[in-house]
Amino acid sequence: MDTTSSASKTALMVCAYRARASRWEKPLFVDPYAEALAGADGHEIAKLLDTRFPPMELWLALRVAYIDRLVGLAVDQLSVRQIVILGAGYDTRAARLPRAGVTFFEVDHPATQASKRERLATLSGYPVDNARYVTCNFEREDPIDRLVASGFSTTEPALVVWEGVVPYLTEGAVRATASRLATGLDPRSLVAFDFVGKKLASGQGLNEKDQATRSYVGELGEPIRYGSDDMLPLLYECGFRWVRTLDFNELALEMLGDYQRDRMFRFQHLALAAPRTPVAGWP
Ligand SMILES: C[S@@+](CC[C@H](N)C(=O)[O-])C[C@H]1O[C@@H](n2cnc3c(N)ncnc32)[C@H](O)[C@@H]1O
Repeated sequence: MDTTSSASKTALMVCAYRARASRWEKPLFVDPYAEALAGADGHEIAKLLDTRFPPMELWLALRVAYIDRLVGLAVDQLSVRQIVILGAGYDTRAARLPRAGVTFFEVDHPATQASKRERLATLSGYPVDNARYVTCNFEREDPIDRLVASGFSTTEPALVVWEGVVPYLTEGAVRATASRLATGLDPRSLVAFDFVGKKLASGQGLNEKDQATRSYVGELGEPIRYGSDDMLPLLYECGFRWVRTLDFNELALEMLGDYQRDRMFRFQHLALAAPRTPVAGWP
């Protein structure tokens, strides 16, 4: 997102997909706030992406369900007490997955965060105080400094969720943010994020549908800037010493029990990274 632009439209779009996925007959998760938060504008943006990229709803659902499971594992089994959501958009995990003694930090570009807080204020019953709200522009600010200013501890482990954000950053911002996470977090922490392949980011050699998807997202004001076919070298250079990646076909197989070639999960991946080998129990 450009520093001068207003609130993220892709954040509203994925919120609309969360609302839809919550209505599945057998949902992988239920987000009771997504419908109202996304509003008609969020659904409209999502509808226009559907024709270009039909697997988006499924991709989103798998991503959200997998990360929800990570949050549960961190807090219930590994006693992690800090959950950081970087580029939070309209994320509702602080409301959906609260635990006594666990602090959720929502970090986002100021424009998106202001819009989210406005929308939350109109939702009756939403536990606004379940999260600490931290503004940060990853293109020019240090997320660890910003978090610490809001009470985050760098000597306690954290789960850092960086969902749906990396593709929209410049490589410089990805490197700067990842470096600060690798060196600034307690080494027992884990960072989880999704990323897209190099081809989608560069726009070179894409088929017509993928090109249309890339153009549409760009038209929303958030062009896809960064992609990689192998995150390990960058994560290593930034200071991480444990990396795992997972593709969405693997995730779909695990969560839905099947594989379908035409799902078009060609360029989407998840990564887990830690400053050192995590304690037993991390995935
Ligand atoms: C596709 S949305 C994802 C929102 C949320 N994580 C989710 O998955 O529902 C992209 C998010 O990245 C944030 N973002 C993009 N560029 C940013 C930047 N330079 N600094 C901080 N946040 C940024 C946007 O504000 C937005 O919240």
